[in-house]
Amino acid sequence: MHDILVVDDEHDIRESLRGILEDEGYRVLLAESGESCLEQLKKRTCEIVLLDIWLPGIDGLDTLERIRQLEEPPEVVMISGHGTIETAVRATKLGAFDFLEKPLSLDKTLIVIKNALEARRLRQENVEFKKQFQAKSVIVGESIPMKALRQQITVMAPTNGRVLIYGESGTGKELAAHAIHAQSLRKENLFVEVNCAAIPEDWIESELFGHRKGALPGAAGDKEGKFEKADGGTLFLDEVGDMSLKTQSKVLRTLDEQRFTRVGDDQPARVDVRVIAATNKDLDEEISRGNFREDLFYRLNVIPFYVPPLRERKEDIPLLAKHFLKEFSAAYSRRPREVAEDAIEVLMRYSWPGNVRELRNVIERLVIMNPTVHKIDRKHLPPLMHRESGRTSAGFSTLHQARAAYERDYILRKLDENHGNVSRTAEVLGLERSHLYRKMKTLGIAVKE
Ligand SMILES: Nc1ncnc2c1ncn2[C@@H]1O[C@H](COP(=O)(O)OP(=O)(O)OP(=O)(O)O)[C@@H](O)[C@H]1O
Ligand SMILES: [Mg+2]
Repeated sequence: MHDILVVDDEHDIRESLRGILEDEGYRVLLAESGESCLEQLKKRTCEIVLLDIWLPGIDGLDTLERIRQLEEPPEVVMISGHGTIETAVRATKLGAFDFLEKPLSLDKTLIVIKNALEARRLRQENVEFKKQFQAKSVIVGESIPMKALRQQITVMAPTNGRVLIYGESGTGKELAAHAIHAQSLRKENLFVEVNCAAIPEDWIESELFGHRKGALPGAAGDKEGKFEKADGGTLFLDEVGDMSLKTQSKVLRTLDEQRFTRVGDDQPARVDVRVIAATNKDLDEEISRGNFREDLFYRLNVIPFYVPPLRERKEDIPLLAKHFLKEFSAAYSRRPREVAEDAIEVLMRYSWPGNVRELRNVIERLVIMNPTVHKIDRKHLPPLMHRESGRTSAGFSTLHQARAAYERDYILRKLDENHGNVSRTAEVLGLERSHLYRKMKTLGIAVKE
């Protein structure tokens, strides 16, 4: 049910509007002056105000101005018997949605109200969407690389520089792209994503640039491409390393000329798009194999970002675990819960081949599977994690990495045996306490006292 407030000093107009609108299923409130209208809006929200321009006391335009200052203002439709272009222009500038002239036409009134309700719905949806987008752009982590990443984003987000984000799968590349958009001057416009690996080769051009009716088999109508959609905003080319050479050359041309041509069209169109690309491939290697154009690489790689794998910033694991625990407890309406130290230790020992995404999935599963548990401890964790913590030899590319992993594992286990007491662990290991501290720091083991 929608609430409409009718403001008019003429009793007959108020009553006839009430009758008509109630018949249409609206809930109707009445006010005979601007003062009374504002008084009522202070006490309750309503979606539409039909506001007469000529009122005793403060007039319609003044009332409109004050309504617009409310926290969640309703849509305002002005009513006037003496509608001049000038007043209409002033009212529109003050934020009125539309204008109705007396004598009121029943059809026109109902259409304007419908439009106003729709406009309000879209506006609210938009606000909600932006809020969610901002909330989803928070990068959690206090490790040195994550702090550096946030810093880098703050500095370069307001520029229009192209960014290429590297990192293994699940490290947070898309999140970094969101954060850049959310802090950019383009944040009011769209963030449009294209996953270049997920779209079949035959379709990617039309996906990016759009097409004219009949240009492709199955192209029943004109289609807007992602470049066009992202106009004024940000285009995120995910898995850019998976684009074919043909598409690469079209993207290159678009970036160079800031214009593109729909498939099957001969008229190019201008666009103003900031491109952020991401890849988990080694593009240098793809270039040397002839799979990726070097010139495109340099266009995209104006500002390179690297998101390190989770195993190289293990001190972020407890923070991330707590963050996701909070997120999923809220999402599943579960009471907030804690993670016990011994569970954190197991989480920190695991190698996380799926990176942050894997951690997020594990935590989601924990929340779902343990509805009544107050404190998550190691016995709640998936068996895989316990198994993995002892086994570390496979999957390291250098001896240095393997040794570091072994050392960190060993130290974590000894710390575990000594209940996290650093001095005692140092003693057991035959190290100076300060030496062990340094070692823990370089190995990314959080020091807790
Ligand atoms: N530092 C972080 N703080 C909070 N959430 C994070 C962080 N890093 C990643 N996430 C979350 O983990 C999930 C995976 O991240 P994202 O999709 O950005 O990874 P990706 O690098 O794009 O992965 P892929 O290469 O597989 O596409 C997302 O739900 C994201 O919100
Ligand atoms: Mg991604």
